[in-house]
Amino acid sequence: MTAKLPRTARLLACGGALILSCTATTATAEPADNAAMLELADRSRCLTCHDVSETLRGPAWRDVAKRYRGRTDVEEMLVKKVYEGGSGAWGDDYMSANKRAGLDNIRTLVRWILTLP
Ligand code: HEC
Repeated sequence: MTAKLPRTARLLACGGALILSCTATTATAEPADNAAMLELADRSRCLTCHDVSETLRGPAWRDVAKRYRGRTDVEEMLVKKVYEGGSGAWGDDYMSANKRAGLDNIRTLVRWILTLP
């Protein structure tokens, strides 16, 4: 049944489910944060190319978190890359610039992405 929903709706539904039912799990980020962050990501148009757990056009954000786990020097690099766009780190595809999302929102999202379990 979930397969029929558009991806964004499915993600948001998942965020809602997290609030309702996942409070007792081992998630490291607060479920309420996840829902708010997914909403911000949706508004910022990230979810047309990204999913938390699935590779779409862009890498799954959990894979991004895994790759940079423990690195304190990557936040600014990633913020700049998302803002300006770029390629070469994950494959041949190109991330277009996301300037309309704004640097503050992008920084918030990158910080959250880096904490994903
Ligand atoms: C047009 C599709 C598209 C959109 C929209 C998009 N991305 Fe990406 N993103 C990609 C692709 C493709 C890559 C892989 C780029 C590469 O291989 O270097 C990527 C990579 C990334 C990375 C990892 C970069 C690295 O160097 O490891 C992060 C973090 C990221 N995106 C976050 C975001 C956020 C946050 C947004 C929304 C503000 C966003 N993306 C919007 C396609 C997109």
